[in-house]
Amino acid sequence: MCGIVGIASNKSVSANIVNSLKKLEYRGYDSAGLATLSNNLINEKKCSGRVEQLEKILFKAPAEGNLGIGHVRWATHGIPNEINAHPHSSEIVSVVHNGIIENSNNLKNQLEKKGLKFKSQTDTEVITLLLTEELKNKSPLDAVHETLKKLEGSFALGIIFKNFKDMIIGARRGSPLAVGYSTNENYLGSDSYALKSMTNKISYLDDGDICVLTKDNVEFYDFRKKKINKKVLLLSDDKNIAHKGDYKNFMSKEIFEQPIAIKNCINEYIDKSRDEINFYNFPIKPDSIDKIILVGCGTAYHSCLVAKYWFEEFTSLTVEADVASEFRYRNLKFNKNSLYLFVSQSGETADTAAALDLCKKNGVKTCSIVNVVESSIARNSDWVLPIHAGPEIGVASTKAFTGQMLLLYMLSLKIGNLRGDIERKYYQTKIINLKKLPDLLQNSLKTEDKIQLVAKDFLKSKGSMFLGRGFSFPIALEGALKLKELSYLHAEGYPAGEMKHGPLALIEDGLPVIVISPNDKYFQKTISNMQEVIARGGKILLITDSNDSVISENIRFKINLPHIEKSLSPFLTTIPLQLLAYHVALLKKCDIDKPRNLAKSVTVE
Ligand code: M6R
Repeated sequence: MCGIVGIASNKSVSANIVNSLKKLEYRGYDSAGLATLSNNLINEKKCSGRVEQLEKILFKAPAEGNLGIGHVRWATHGIPNEINAHPHSSEIVSVVHNGIIENSNNLKNQLEKKGLKFKSQTDTEVITLLLTEELKNKSPLDAVHETLKKLEGSFALGIIFKNFKDMIIGARRGSPLAVGYSTNENYLGSDSYALKSMTNKISYLDDGDICVLTKDNVEFYDFRKKKINKKVLLLSDDKNIAHKGDYKNFMSKEIFEQPIAIKNCINEYIDKSRDEINFYNFPIKPDSIDKIILVGCGTAYHSCLVAKYWFEEFTSLTVEADVASEFRYRNLKFNKNSLYLFVSQSGETADTAAALDLCKKNGVKTCSIVNVVESSIARNSDWVLPIHAGPEIGVASTKAFTGQMLLLYMLSLKIGNLRGDIERKYYQTKIINLKKLPDLLQNSLKTEDKIQLVAKDFLKSKGSMFLGRGFSFPIALEGALKLKELSYLHAEGYPAGEMKHGPLALIEDGLPVIVISPNDKYFQKTISNMQEVIARGGKILLITDSNDSVISENIRFKINLPHIEKSLSPFLTTIPLQLLAYHVALLKKCDIDKPRNLAKSVTVE
């Protein structure tokens, strides 16, 4: 992960670097730093903790200079302290890095044998020292080119040189990097989001590319050092970006934005007058698809798991769902008629991007479902389906999850319809019901008051379990993930029917157990599993749209959801689980938008 920014300008850059770093904190927030050039010296400031801390340091001791690079870190090599924070500088060069240098130990040994001394525990410092050596007899571009040849692994780099007061060099392999253009000022950034407040004109580097920026000019080179041209793209204008409004934090804003985000996505894809889903340009004719393969990480993977049930219900296809970090290393047999779907909010997740690359290398068609349309995953896919959820800033994914599910729901229905696996009438009834979803989500958000009471129970508990069957099983996994990530409490999601095969042993007096049981074909079975938990002392929070009175006995809390057609239940059951994780974390005074040890965009494997 980690975020990089670089600015070459005709005016002081540190304030703008700090502002961009604040936007990049979603990529990592355990330490921050910057380096500027002034009076022919590299001026390095860094600290552990947030960009706010760096700002305080700069307030007391400003970093002058019209050229600089900055970094927010998500530690991989070495603990998150000041020494390991980036930039890593020698007397003549300063480097910020995103990614992992896999052969850093070997390189370090070689450099130490030459008598060079390392200050930090990072893999990045080998780049600084390699460059320092190369710069003894080479130009900056040649030194970078030679250094890159020695590196294995993934990187995006920003580099400044003491003796070149108007030059930043950027390079990428595996980790994304963009260049932004303005008048008397050019920029380097991990993504367009970092640069959006300064420019709407950007270019993306491809793997192997190097860029050389001055305040008036940008040049690009490929991995052979051959000069190349890059397309300049115009970014869309996201006016509502990154404002919390009246909300306490981004996560609560994003939870409450779900009805409108879902409405926007429905409006994008559904022709309401004809009750038709508009998806065009399928990379494989739906008739010829023989299998659907869904790939994602974390919450995005959970949306894939829910979608497996939908594809199985609406199509005659075989469906597989896999976590990207497993998919990319499996011994897969690729098939040209299978549709490979990649789901990612950020579109930058390293494992998902690598899984996509693997598919491309094997010549199969790929489709990505993303929130960030300018992302690497979107740019590398044959077919892109944006979820139109608007920027998601909170590290815990909420509105992107429901957006991903919506896209997958519509896609499964559309493929089922085009293949003739479902009848037209059935298809259109589903669309009519789908149009009611935004209002029903709005009603589900009213469960918040009761959830606030429920949340108190979790403060005293050692852990919790989330149970469900069918669509509700992946929702149980998602509920558990949200609680772990936000409140640092142990939580396990399980298929309710599997409890008796082991996990029932965990149930003891007072353990909170969240049972997700909409009124679907699994209802009675899940309720029986719930009774087995009650009999062993589990404290139940039941989430359901059933009014069955029998089930209210011995239940500590019941959250009533509005009735909804069965296949849409995952959208509604998700809401109280997001609210639960949010309120437990709030009571525990956890950092809601930036949970410990995590980052919004996971760009390392
Ligand atoms: O950007 P992506 O959707 O590819 O991210 C995948 C996961 O890292 C992400 O969903 C993660 O699990 C969330 N923090 C969960 O809330």
